Amino acid sequence: MKEKSRGTFNGSIGFVLAAAGSAVGLGNIWRFPFLAARDGGGLFLVIYIVLALTFGFTLLTTEICIGRKTKQSPLTAYKKLHEKWGWIGIFACVVPFMIMPYYCAIGGWVIKYFVTFLTGGGKEAAADGYFGNFITGTTEPAVYMTLFLAACALIIFVGVEKGIEKTSKIMMPILFVLVVIIAVFSLTIRHTHPDGQVVTGLQGLKIYLIPRLDGIGVKEFFHVLMDALGQLFYSLSIAMGILIAYGSYMPDDTDIVKSVNQIEIFDTLVAFLAGVMIIPAVYVFMGAEGMSSGPSLMFVSLPKIFAEMGALGDIVGTVFFALVLFAAITSGMSIMEAVVSSFMDEFKLDRTRATVIEGVLALVIGLVVCFGYNFMYFEFKLPNGSVGQVLDIMDYVSNYIMMPIVAIATCILIGWVLKVDVVIGEATKNGEKFSRKGLYVVMIRFIAPLLLGILLLMSLGLL
Ligand code: PHE
Repeated sequence: MKEKSRGTFNGSIGFVLAAAGSAVGLGNIWRFPFLAARDGGGLFLVIYIVLALTFGFTLLTTEICIGRKTKQSPLTAYKKLHEKWGWIGIFACVVPFMIMPYYCAIGGWVIKYFVTFLTGGGKEAAADGYFGNFITGTTEPAVYMTLFLAACALIIFVGVEKGIEKTSKIMMPILFVLVVIIAVFSLTIRHTHPDGQVVTGLQGLKIYLIPRLDGIGVKEFFHVLMDALGQLFYSLSIAMGILIAYGSYMPDDTDIVKSVNQIEIFDTLVAFLAGVMIIPAVYVFMGAEGMSSGPSLMFVSLPKIFAEMGALGDIVGTVFFALVLFAAITSGMSIMEAVVSSFMDEFKLDRTRATVIEGVLALVIGLVVCFGYNFMYFEFKLPNGSVGQVLDIMDYVSNYIMMPIVAIATCILIGWVLKVDVVIGEATKNGEKFSRKGLYVVMIRFIAPLLLGILLLMSLGLL
């Protein structure tokens, strides 16, 4: 009876697009291009792809299998697998619970910029101090955060098939087309600087694609490797409880290995295209040093670049923020579903109640995040040396500490305590092929926990 009332995706395409929707998020757009440009261009790309096919494949398959096998939310799945390891579930539910409010705050910033460009305000958005003035305001960030949260809550309230699956099936193909359009446009840009020098988008593309090996010794290579690993880990939405929740709605006859490959291809392709979209544009107008990551790239540098494009700038900016908004919504709803499904399974709540409870909690904490730039402003020194506000502290604890712990514990549970057949058996239960079995075993038992352990030590500032 209970299993029947659990939502399911209609088919494999719906599942893949929903998981890809979760994976393709702000990280693909504002961090991947920066890392690629900084870390030796093509060298980073090659390392990233190799890691996706090995490390990413292993963790993605594992979480989806845990979800589908147990048909449980992240909070309850682990204790169904092993009574003593139920604590991982608590972590795997606290992580999305912590991320949701500040992701909504950032999602609100994206809506604000989308509206600004749509209404022809691109020039103002390019002015110095515009972003700082906006986020330190009292009401606007809170209103936009609430709007973003309401959009996610509405989709989650409607349910797995009609809400999550349908939204992903509409937004993801559109997002892809928009990324391609801007990427092509970016390659055609040329700009004459005041000193008469002409710079083209294709020159910027070279910086991105050609591997730069000069000055790359063992130490530098290790840093590029760890950058790629951290980015991949975040980009695939691993250790956020999302893949377990989505896996639990996956039809039993869907080929997991094939789906994992498709999710990885989609996610990596969009990240790659985000680089084609952003790096040449930044290079043409600001030079190689103009590249930055995170909010400063998206909300400060890019609006300046759009303004340089003249009349076209508002249109390009609108299209750009529309695609970022789609990426953010499909990620935001997935993180909310990880929490809502946990509340439903653990406390036997119906979807409406669980959504309302999580919605209200995320709203309250989201307001604290927004006010963290206003009357609740303070500065906190994080162990990795940076100074942060509420948003940064929540990001640091969830991303840098809790997520590696969840992933390491999952590797130990599957690789050593329960043994890999739990996963491989689930993935091949209809006779599907699992051709990377040897690789999977070595990865989940040895290499993945080792790499994740290094990542954790580095985040803690211990390495
Ligand atoms: N993969 C997502 C991204 O790149 C990570 C994420 C998913 C973050 C869901 C928050 C919510 O942005």
